[in-house]
Amino acid sequence: MKKIVCDSYEDVCRYAADVYALQLKDKPDSVLGLATGSTPVGLYDELARRYSNGELDFSKAQSFNLDEYYPIDPSHPQSYDYFMRENLFNKINIAKFQIPKGDAKDPVAECVRYDALIDKAGGIDLMLLGIGLNGHIGFNEPAVSYPVGTYLVSLTESSIVANSRFFGPDEHQPTTALTMGIGHIFRSKKILLLISGAAKADITSKLFEGIIHTDIPACMLLLHPNVTVIIDKAANGE
Ligand code: PGA
Repeated sequence: MKKIVCDSYEDVCRYAADVYALQLKDKPDSVLGLATGSTPVGLYDELARRYSNGELDFSKAQSFNLDEYYPIDPSHPQSYDYFMRENLFNKINIAKFQIPKGDAKDPVAECVRYDALIDKAGGIDLMLLGIGLNGHIGFNEPAVSYPVGTYLVSLTESSIVANSRFFGPDEHQPTTALTMGIGHIFRSKKILLLISGAAKADITSKLFEGIIHTDIPACMLLLHPNVTVIIDKAANGE
């Protein structure tokens, strides 16, 4: 696991955008795994800026998002579908993007459908991850076992509280989600994990202890051959 420490969050985003530029240059039809949350927002801004400057072209690329609340209507402002359109897809020329359907009638069938789509695309070339305060990746929450394929997960109290900042006081906050399982994350050829802010310093230091804490899903990344962690000084405890 390679660690790149940047001075600031802005530098994290610029460094990560350089990784995307290289990826799309090497393989214009890349399959990109994408994430939501606060951390990737600056990266998405930078990708959109570079696209509008003519520096990046996504016209042959496609993407799969890690997760989506369930149940939620894709048009709901708190859905990850909405988030991705607002923050990235409406601003670039990506050929195709896929997000688990938060309004699917049958969540189990939706997970099977989603996995089949990822397989058909040949798996993910570059997977973007954030990390939860509890060490979750995607919505793979700390657990005693981790499904390989996409699945319906009950969110932990930690994730519900962390994400409550996005919901208004009277707004219903889902407590379950559909998430890509550990299998497709680990079959990704390259993984990029972005970490920012002092609140993540504790979980970051656990990740770099060199111990696979089984109750910290992100620690499984220690087993993957091509993971780059791009982190700002605050998250690095500096
Ligand atoms: P955050 O979320 O970027 O909003 O901190 C990361 C995550 O929960 O994976």
